[in-house]
Amino acid sequence: MIELLLGLLQQSNQPSQPTWHDDIYPIMLTHCSECHDGKGAGPFELLTYESVANRATFIEALIEKKLMPPWLPSKEGAPLQGERCMSDEQIALFKQWVKGGKLKGEGAQIVVCPVEMETPVMTKRTESDYAWIIPAESGIRWHEGVLDKRTFVLPIENETLLKVNRIQYSTTAPQAVQMVGFVFDGSGQGKRVDAWDREPGYEMMGDIGWIPSGSHGKIGPGAGGVFVPAGFYLEIPANADLVAETHYRPRGKQEQLSSTVQLWETTDESARQLLPLITMIRRIVLEPEATNVIEGESIQIPYAVDLVGVTPRAGSECESMRLAATLPDGKEMVLIDIPRWDPHYGETVFFDKPIRLPADSIISSQWIYNNSESNPRNPFVPAKKVDLARRTGIANFILHSAAVDAQQETAIIEWNQGLLRKRQRATNKSN
Ligand code: HEC
Repeated sequence: MIELLLGLLQQSNQPSQPTWHDDIYPIMLTHCSECHDGKGAGPFELLTYESVANRATFIEALIEKKLMPPWLPSKEGAPLQGERCMSDEQIALFKQWVKGGKLKGEGAQIVVCPVEMETPVMTKRTESDYAWIIPAESGIRWHEGVLDKRTFVLPIENETLLKVNRIQYSTTAPQAVQMVGFVFDGSGQGKRVDAWDREPGYEMMGDIGWIPSGSHGKIGPGAGGVFVPAGFYLEIPANADLVAETHYRPRGKQEQLSSTVQLWETTDESARQLLPLITMIRRIVLEPEATNVIEGESIQIPYAVDLVGVTPRAGSECESMRLAATLPDGKEMVLIDIPRWDPHYGETVFFDKPIRLPADSIISSQWIYNNSESNPRNPFVPAKKVDLARRTGIANFILHSAAVDAQQETAIIEWNQGLLRKRQRATNKSN
């Protein structure tokens, strides 16, 4: 497969004032074009002088507040792959460009050089043979803070177990799709629920029994897929279905949502399986106007694992969240810190390097919920009492982890499931 990479030849003598051609266009290309190329998830294209200059003040405000490009984790956690944030220098440069009169400058030369990609082994291309019509307007539940969602069940029809390292996703309505969470379902549960609903897909969340939606990755707008880091894979049981929970955003007109999913099998014989370990809060009770710091329970992992990535989940009343580890030697580390949560962008993130957690490391988590009117994302004015429970976690972190010793894989899965059952029993008693 050939993919085009845009290279840019800079002018040799930099003018004192930043210009579109020399300074701003390269930033747009690397930080915005992924979604704002006119075909992607962003509402408009941001690759021409006019399109950026005309909304420069608006863009300036968004990039200063770090609302665009969308990227939730802060630098306090461990370094992550594919961080989209603009640097402080780039933000300053943009501001200076606006202040200096949005100079256009001389046209820089754009060189398009074809780059050979490694040849992927495509094992299955599953295309939904139906389309879901996204309504022009949001349902009433949208305004109640529940994202509009639809879960689709795509049969993979694999006779044997598969080891995949890429799930690529494309849709006919990129601007109307906010977020997609994937689960490989070997239980048939997704298919059964789908059968009850007469239309394509079903309206509930894509949680399958104890397996939360996003267990095998969650993508945000424009992300295009789950790209598992080298050396690891996701396991698909034989005869599985891919359950894809899709959160959509009505755009004032009807759109047809039809998605294509491609799976890629790993060729690395020594790759290790990513197990979705889950730490969560099962129930949340919030009085109106309350701000609660909710500590997730501490869990001690009795086996050594490599933590490869994390998927966060929480409702829209949640303001911030944090995941940390205490190693057996007492060393504490922040794994993920999300200072400003937005459920629309809660995608799976992978660490730059896997984090080795020795046996008996303790995982702790914290969510801050703000059920007051001062929280701009609180759907209720005046604030209402919140009392929500979900057995896969009303708020959770999925820790995409690999056993250090492959022999312990089964034991780790059983340990985590035992924990989930114990937690459920405990909550049942206290209810
Ligand atoms: C990963 C995808 C993605 C990237 C990268 C991205 N955007 Fe966006 N952008 C979106 C989406 C999706 C929206 C629609 C609003 C929403 O859902 O949050 C949006 C909306 C916007 C808006 C309109 C906001 C509004 O409230 O109407 C502006 C302006 C914008 N983006 C600027 C930028 C700039 C500038 C960059 C690069 C520095 C950028 N975006 C990078 C996805 C992206």
